[in-house]
Amino acid sequence: MEKTKVAIIGLGTVGSGVARLLLDHGDRTARHAGRILWLEKAVVRDLAKPRDCELPESVTLTDDIEAVIADPEIKVVAQLIGGLEPARTIMLKLLESGKDIVTANKALLAEHGAELFDRARELGRSIAFEASVAGGIPIIANVSQCLSANQITSLHGILNGTSNFILSKMHEDGASYEEVLPEAQRLGYAEADPAMDVDGSDAAQKLAILAHLAFGARVHWKDIPRTGIDTLDLADVRYAEEMGYKIKLLAVADLVDAGLELHVSPTLVRAGSPLAEVGGPMNAVRVDGDAVGRVMFYGPGAGQMPTASAVVADLIDTAVGRTELTFKTLELWSDRQARVASSDY
Ligand code: NAP
Ligand code: HSE
Repeated sequence: MEKTKVAIIGLGTVGSGVARLLLDHGDRTARHAGRILWLEKAVVRDLAKPRDCELPESVTLTDDIEAVIADPEIKVVAQLIGGLEPARTIMLKLLESGKDIVTANKALLAEHGAELFDRARELGRSIAFEASVAGGIPIIANVSQCLSANQITSLHGILNGTSNFILSKMHEDGASYEEVLPEAQRLGYAEADPAMDVDGSDAAQKLAILAHLAFGARVHWKDIPRTGIDTLDLADVRYAEEMGYKIKLLAVADLVDAGLELHVSPTLVRAGSPLAEVGGPMNAVRVDGDAVGRVMFYGPGAGQMPTASAVVADLIDTAVGRTELTFKTLELWSDRQARVASSDY
């Protein structure tokens, strides 16, 4: 069977999960791609660090990114390091050396997505990013492809698994914010620097990506008004419960007469309603479309294997050239922007 050689850059929580899927379940990828996705190289920062996956001798573990960039046989790269730099420079170099990319790095896409997608388009390359929003939930594909017959009018999401995990523990166990955050980090839900999880930035970055796909709104995530769960304490949670509510960190995009209103904030959600019942690191996205009505997507929004599931699906799609659709949506929208209403929450 034909082989497509791939590399992983970053072998942390997500990268290790991707390596495990490629190495342990090559039969699945071969079945869906009609070819073997062959893991050729994995790049890390610290070669001495213990890894959450065992690499066979056939995989080269290196701390030299150039070893991937300069390897003409590697066609597809999973770029799984967080933050802006050196991730941005690495992505540009990968594109320039003729590689297609899959990434889970929403911070990078929300900040430099326009530059990266433009460059990819110029070079005839692709960037797939299903794992960048809502972990294992296939929300990018659904919003950009499956719902494309609709004018989406509203999108409300629980988009940060760490915040939802912490809030759920505060509600269910009466645990304090400070007690639960280290657990979310240990379980691999939180970012290397969890500040962006708990101050609403991560959810705003994901909302900016979804707003682009769903509404054609090229909004910078920093322009989205946002408040995180770091402003809450147990008394807030108890008062909410006494009134029959749960607190959820909601990322909201509503199409109103003035344009598109966007915000991220801890919100009182009526107990028993679908969004209120989304617990632990789960995410959910509720979408209203003028043809389909209301649909809701639910599933694990963070963590090793759910995120790896989305990355590997993108690797398969990339290997067989199926990433075009999402890409086309971004292109179509680039000259059809929704006006962003000034909202002040
Ligand atoms: P992580 O556990 O911190 O892993 C990051 C990896 O990148 C590590 O293996 C690290 O190497 C490597 N790395 C960092 N800088 C590097 C450099 N300059 N050169 C080479 N390797 C470098 O992060 P993660 O949780 O897997 O997240 C990866 C990306 O996925 C982030 O963008 C994150 O936002 C996104 N994401 C994460 C989740 C999740 O649930 N964790 C879900 C969705 C999306 P060392 O191990 O040697 O330090
Ligand atoms: N830190 C992120 C979260 C990972 O907690 O949702 C998934 O993007």
